[in-house]
Amino acid sequence: MEPFAAVDVLNTRTLLIGIVVFLVLFRTLRRPRNLPPGPWGWPVLGNLPQIMASGDKMHELFSKLTKRYGNIIHVEAGGISMVVLHGHDTAKEAFSQYELSARPELHITHAVCPSRIGILDSSGEEWVEIRRFSMTVLRSLGVGKASFEQNISTEAGILIEEIGKYHGKAFDPKHAVGNAVSNLICSVVFGKRFQYHDPAFQRLLKLLSDNITQGGAAGLLETSPIFYKLRMLPFVRRYVHAVNNFHKHFNVLVGEHTHKKDTDSPRDFIGFFLSEKEKKDKQGVESLALQSENLPKIVSDLFGAGSETTATTLRWAMLYMMAYPEVQTRVQKELDDVTNRNRMPRIADKPELPYTEAVLCEVQRIETIVPMSVPHMCSDDTTLMGYNIPKGTLVFSNLWHNHFDPSVWEEPKSFRPERFLDKEGKFQSREELTPFGIGRRICIGEHLARQELFVLFTHLLHHFTFKNPDDAPPISFKGIHGLVWTPQDFTVCAIERN
Ligand SMILES: *[C@@H]1O[C@H](CO)[C@@H](O)[C@H](O)[C@H]1NC(C)=O
Ligand SMILES: *[C@@H]1O[C@H](CO)[C@@H](O)[C@H](O)[C@H]1NC(C)=O
Repeated sequence: MEPFAAVDVLNTRTLLIGIVVFLVLFRTLRRPRNLPPGPWGWPVLGNLPQIMASGDKMHELFSKLTKRYGNIIHVEAGGISMVVLHGHDTAKEAFSQYELSARPELHITHAVCPSRIGILDSSGEEWVEIRRFSMTVLRSLGVGKASFEQNISTEAGILIEEIGKYHGKAFDPKHAVGNAVSNLICSVVFGKRFQYHDPAFQRLLKLLSDNITQGGAAGLLETSPIFYKLRMLPFVRRYVHAVNNFHKHFNVLVGEHTHKKDTDSPRDFIGFFLSEKEKKDKQGVESLALQSENLPKIVSDLFGAGSETTATTLRWAMLYMMAYPEVQTRVQKELDDVTNRNRMPRIADKPELPYTEAVLCEVQRIETIVPMSVPHMCSDDTTLMGYNIPKGTLVFSNLWHNHFDPSVWEEPKSFRPERFLDKEGKFQSREELTPFGIGRRICIGEHLARQELFVLFTHLLHHFTFKNPDDAPPISFKGIHGLVWTPQDFTVCAIERN
């Protein structure tokens, strides 16, 4: 052997060992003390390969890991440090903390969208201001109150007419249901509804549903800093493209609206925003959040969060009615007893519709549409149940796990609306059902969504019986995990009742 080659081999080996020792030391030293436990991860990529490999079942992957690591699990994924919380009590304790109520940077949205902040991604004082303002506006517009029920009923009537056009033949309800729900949020935001076949409306819905909802389980594409840099990958490029188109389109829509502004007597969210801003400008008060450049983002957040979610829940509800005809019949009987079939059901009838309400709750439990919740970010070093959570950590709450926790729900895998009824058959709400999240960042559209679900669902079942078409494959409850957990496309026959 040549003497030089021996030196080379030695050097290479020493170098390799050196690198390994360095990496291990670096990771150990860099790893803050007393983090929650979690599985081993690769250098740089962390646990991303495992998470990506779980595909649509990220929530199930983490749920299984609790057996080994307990309720708070720490992982690294593509340059971000994250913890996933399990159990209703864990989430409750975490999200009452201000430090755990911030939001992570949305890397792709911020790169392509000129607005600074919206509702979903704001943190700190800006978030407090924007949240308070948005809730006040929703209340002023009557959302969640009786006055808005009329608006929902009107839209429900149009939806029923639209579905009636199929005369009991099989159709995919995605568009009709999506149109109805989106129109309601459009009337809140823009003060107008669209015709279902209006090309501008169709385009808006397509922009939202096509590729944005494919943003990767729990929005990892947005929250991990590596994906925007990897935008040559086709699935990232598709998403970047969709986000870009969506925000461009919203800029145009908001721009059109601001032309005909009516700041004296605002009638929609944009009107209130402009009027409030004008007031603040006159008083010389500098507002953090109410900046014109934020408006398109705020509006698109309201729209994005307010349409896909409720429409998806309604489609799941239809699917369960098709799969459980005896449940559907029982809901219809309850509705008929209250209305005598000579009027439509109303929210005021709720006390007499316990089973119907229980069915809606059970659908929201068994198909948790945001299984991993919307990620939070830790804004300052804090502790949770004895563990350290360093600043900058992403915090997910595994709502799916909580909704299937066998210590809370008996036989969690079965669809059983009765679990929301007491012995006398009265509706019994359950604290552990949290489809809208928990704590300080609980969904601001909760009242709106509940109202929409109740009115649209009862009106539909008053009017139709949903059946799986004879030639359709057996009903599947397999979901797709984009930004929301959606059923696979399906067709339905809507048979008119008389
Ligand atoms: C509800 O409908 C009425 C009548 O069409 C309309 O004037 C009002 O702006 C709507 N409210 C909201 C919040 O969309
Ligand atoms: C969604 O992605 C597909 C495939 O790349 C593309 O053809 C389509 O135009 C995209 N849709 C939107 C609305 O960006």
